[in-house]
Amino acid sequence: MCGIIGYSGDKNAVDRVYSGLKRLEYRGYDSWGIACIDEDGLHIAKDVGKIDGIPDELSNTETHLAISHTRWATHGGVSKENAHPHVSCDGSIAVVHNGIIENYDELKTDLEKKGHKFKSDCDTEVIAHLIEEHSKSKGFPEAVRAAAKQLKGSYAMLAINKNANELVGAKKESPLVLGLNGGEYFLASDVPAFLEYTNKTVPIDDGEMVVIGSKPVVKKISTGEEVGKPMDTIKWKLNQAEKGDYTHFTLKEIHEQPLVLKETLRQNKEKLEQVARMVNSAPRVCIVGAGTSRHASLVGRYVIAELTKKYCEVYMASEFQYFVEKLGKDTLIIAVSQSGETADVLLPVKQAKEHGCKVVSIVNVVGSSLDRVSDVSLYLNTGPEIGVAATKTFTSQVTMFYLIAYTMIYQFEAGLKKLMSIPEMIEETISLNEEKTKKIAEYMKKRDDTYFIARGENFAVATEGALKMKELSYIHAEGMPAGELKHGTLALIEEGTPIIAICPKDHTYEETMANVHEAKARGAYVIGISDENSNMFDEWLKIPKIDYIFYPLLANIPCQLLAYYTAVAKGRPVDTPRNLAKSVTVK
Ligand code: F6R
Repeated sequence: MCGIIGYSGDKNAVDRVYSGLKRLEYRGYDSWGIACIDEDGLHIAKDVGKIDGIPDELSNTETHLAISHTRWATHGGVSKENAHPHVSCDGSIAVVHNGIIENYDELKTDLEKKGHKFKSDCDTEVIAHLIEEHSKSKGFPEAVRAAAKQLKGSYAMLAINKNANELVGAKKESPLVLGLNGGEYFLASDVPAFLEYTNKTVPIDDGEMVVIGSKPVVKKISTGEEVGKPMDTIKWKLNQAEKGDYTHFTLKEIHEQPLVLKETLRQNKEKLEQVARMVNSAPRVCIVGAGTSRHASLVGRYVIAELTKKYCEVYMASEFQYFVEKLGKDTLIIAVSQSGETADVLLPVKQAKEHGCKVVSIVNVVGSSLDRVSDVSLYLNTGPEIGVAATKTFTSQVTMFYLIAYTMIYQFEAGLKKLMSIPEMIEETISLNEEKTKKIAEYMKKRDDTYFIARGENFAVATEGALKMKELSYIHAEGMPAGELKHGTLALIEEGTPIIAICPKDHTYEETMANVHEAKARGAYVIGISDENSNMFDEWLKIPKIDYIFYPLLANIPCQLLAYYTAVAKGRPVDTPRNLAKSVTVK
């Protein structure tokens, strides 16, 4: 998975794509590249690492047409040769691509027989040579279309040709959105790439291509037929995609949660009632998500079961494909995804639809692929989440499950009223714990392993807390039901091993504390997250008292802060952890 942005317009194209690339780094940042066209022809700059300033070799180009790429390696290692753009043999065509070309080997062998010479191990290079091959008999956009028809796998790709004055993009199963600002046109993986210039967008669907000459034309890849597409106005604001006074987006997004939650609570009641009817009447409900979105789904399962007595199954998205064939019309799928582009979610959901399942999605990115394949979508309204680690969207996703559950039992207004008090309590939780977690981070940074434990609806907070700790600080962390500790993991507890026990004073308290005792007796250093202190705790992260069902919304906050400050104490690149990317559009 990678980020791409192309530009065609009357401003300097390199300046425009450079600012877009910086905003797309959350999608990958192990190498970068830009190609542009001016009077002298095609110019390319690329390198490993993150782009840092307009590259010298492009700084004086008078260009109005450029494509660019920030990479998260899948095919081929991280090297300058494998960085995009990739170029045809004659050096006239440049291509950037997000996705995976599955028939790469086959196409490459065929092209090599025709005399094409490859310079990299990257699957994308095959696209540049294919377009070159088709250009022998076709104009540039038609050559791109013919090449796209031969590709198997997933792609959002952009191509330029020094002998043509067009920017051409094509899409299948990887995101691509067109941005329009008067005579300026952008084609990018995501809206923040050009939000600085415009919020007018046209989402491009699978099987479509865009040809931008004097103005953009959307066509079907299969037939070349023109497609009329409505324009959307995105509500996101530029300051939502900027750090402001915060040192990291992640910290900004943690602090934004009280505000963001109020936006999540602004839901259309009729739409929620429609979803509630679908959940109530479905004989089987499968909730599907990956990573943090799955953890939010696990909380959702408890909340729905507790409030409505309905049992839902939660599937890890990457494993869901193995069950899809067994599902049919009696199944409702609730697909949960911040980006709405995660391949592990999207692909089985599409298959499930083919088997007759209905799909409700909980997404943040309006117009994302998941949004568009769903029967009904509920939007998180959190604004863009830039930090690679999900924080505010977890809180929002969990909140959406409360709204669904209360609506299922015809208590939308009563539920909303209760939820309206949460933003203030999150605010209080942040201020209660900010300094404390900074201090505990000094202890955490010296440890190699840590374990998060909880029971009931807070169990998923333990797994989410561990995920945040490992991805931000690179400390090995496991989250598990407290009762599981004695079934194996206890063997790993030594003098000083940090155990983060999420144990608010609810119906699970006594039993969780019994497990805390077991760990403490083996030397664990216990960090308790609770509304009550205990002599079992070496450190207490206090959360306000609240109706037990809402504890996950508060208990997760100290976990986020602890992971954040531990990562800072260890000098980690908090917003862009190594080897990770924000939206994972490959399987
Ligand atoms: C963790 C994280 C990932 C994502 C996962 C799913 O902090 O961000 O685990 O939650 O990749 O992404 P979405 O929600 O976009 O489907």
